[in-house]
Amino acid sequence: MAGPWIVTFLYGLLGATLVQADLRPPAVLNLGPVVIKEHLTQALKNHDATAILHELPLLSAMRDRSGSVPVLDSLMRSFLRYIIWMKVTSANILQLAVQPSTYDQELVIRIPLDMVAGLNTPLVKTMVQFQMNTEIQALVRVEKSKSGPTRLNLGDCSSSSNTLRLSLLNKLSFMVNSLANNVMNVLVPALPQMVKNHLCPVIQQAFDDMYNGFLRLATAPIALSPGALDFGLLSPAIQDNNIVFNLEAKLLDSQARVTKWFNSSVASQMETTPNGAPFSLLMRQDLVNAIVDTLVPKEELVILLRFLIPEVARQLQADIKEINAEAANKLGPSQMVKIATYSGPQIVLNEDGATAAQNIILEVFPTNADVRPFFSLGIEANYEARFFTEGDRLMINFSNISIERIKLMISDIKLFNPETMKGTLTKILEYTLLPNVNGKLRTGIPMAMVRALGYEKSLWSVNKERVGSRVRICIRNLPRQPLAPTSSANEAQPMKCPSWSAG
Ligand SMILES: *[C@@H]1O[C@H](CO)[C@@H](O)[C@H](O)[C@H]1NC(C)=O
Ligand SMILES: *[C@@H]1O[C@H](CO)[C@@H](O)[C@H](O)[C@H]1NC(C)=O
Ligand SMILES: *[C@@H]1O[C@H](CO)[C@@H](O)[C@H](O)[C@H]1NC(C)=O
Repeated sequence: MAGPWIVTFLYGLLGATLVQADLRPPAVLNLGPVVIKEHLTQALKNHDATAILHELPLLSAMRDRSGSVPVLDSLMRSFLRYIIWMKVTSANILQLAVQPSTYDQELVIRIPLDMVAGLNTPLVKTMVQFQMNTEIQALVRVEKSKSGPTRLNLGDCSSSSNTLRLSLLNKLSFMVNSLANNVMNVLVPALPQMVKNHLCPVIQQAFDDMYNGFLRLATAPIALSPGALDFGLLSPAIQDNNIVFNLEAKLLDSQARVTKWFNSSVASQMETTPNGAPFSLLMRQDLVNAIVDTLVPKEELVILLRFLIPEVARQLQADIKEINAEAANKLGPSQMVKIATYSGPQIVLNEDGATAAQNIILEVFPTNADVRPFFSLGIEANYEARFFTEGDRLMINFSNISIERIKLMISDIKLFNPETMKGTLTKILEYTLLPNVNGKLRTGIPMAMVRALGYEKSLWSVNKERVGSRVRICIRNLPRQPLAPTSSANEAQPMKCPSWSAG
């Protein structure tokens, strides 16, 4: 059947959606400061960071440093000798902060520490207690290495003496008070170094764990039905206080063979997560279309029209009668329609929302025993496309099928203008192709990432891009607490994806 005629026609339709190659990454995962903060806090807990603070060797550090502090008199030196015990008695890591740096591709992590230290000496009956507050600052940067992949590293970890606050918690005699002040004078230079030496390696490990965890989430295979979607890291980046993964994507068939590969060497500069969204995942339109293609493979539907939709079969017979009465009489009870899809539905964005276009060939046979159709039609069908979420699945559903273009390709009954049967054909597609496609899309795209990042709900929406007249589709999670009572009706709510900056 596929004569040159059809090929021209199909190219004509597809040509409109074939835009020049898009060099931006096929997908971008953007992790905002809230996600980084929560996951780093958890990683520090996993590494028992506060236990390390409890173990800080305050006394030996003080003894080492005491020689270098000139103000210490001999009384103090002997006092230090009399301290029989000195320890951190309580330690807390307070709310850490993830902040943008003034430098490109760098973010700042601040970790405030709150500790109480106690010392015992025979010179005083009660334990002398100090409150110690300090802050660790570390920088996260993109590290390109010759051997391994480019990754984000935490470095320049330190606790500056500017952030150090020491205060005495007890009221003591004038004499002991002045001794305690001397102890603090020694601690001021000793503590930042001690914190750096003991805690920074742990913070580094915690960051690496978190980073590797993020990477695993971003690149965990996503089961499609059939096949799978695999993301791989193209490059990590930092944008303001966000961690950004530029991702490549592979589509695999049910035998785990790569059917489509989306890579791009050019990393994008993009904006941070949209307001109120702790993270977002953006997928390029061509990737979304390829996913839809995987979910809805090309196929041929054979429909015994009178059994399935008798009233539409009668309508078609009436339409054919207008063209050729003799042919209409030949239509038997097993009157058959074949619908072959020639492309997966292609998502297209317009001002009001998303639509999908699909090329099909529709053939009408008088009976199921006939091999030669009465006529063949080339049809570009259009759907309204709706994107929503169900649990942690991204769902696509089509509705309102219509016929955008229709051409008579072959006719055995007489040449006719197929526009005359558009209404009937639309009904046929509505009862057959539409539920078939929706059934295939029904399993959706499972996004384990949403729950793994600690969120219940996500939202996925489409965003028209003027740049290169491309469409992007983005998924973002909702804040755990709805911002306003109305925002719980999230599915219909329009949402803007962050825009790619021109760079
Ligand atoms: C994508 O990258 C892989 C491995 O780097 C390569 O094998 C494949 O051919 C590339 N595909 C395209 C379309 O560039
Ligand atoms: C999908 O769309 C069809 C109409 O095309 C509708 O009948 C069905 O309820 C929709 N499914 C969902 C889950 O919205
Ligand atoms: C369905 O499509 C027709 C024509 O394309 C349009 O007039 C109508 O408003 C659409 N209905 C819905 C519910 O989108």
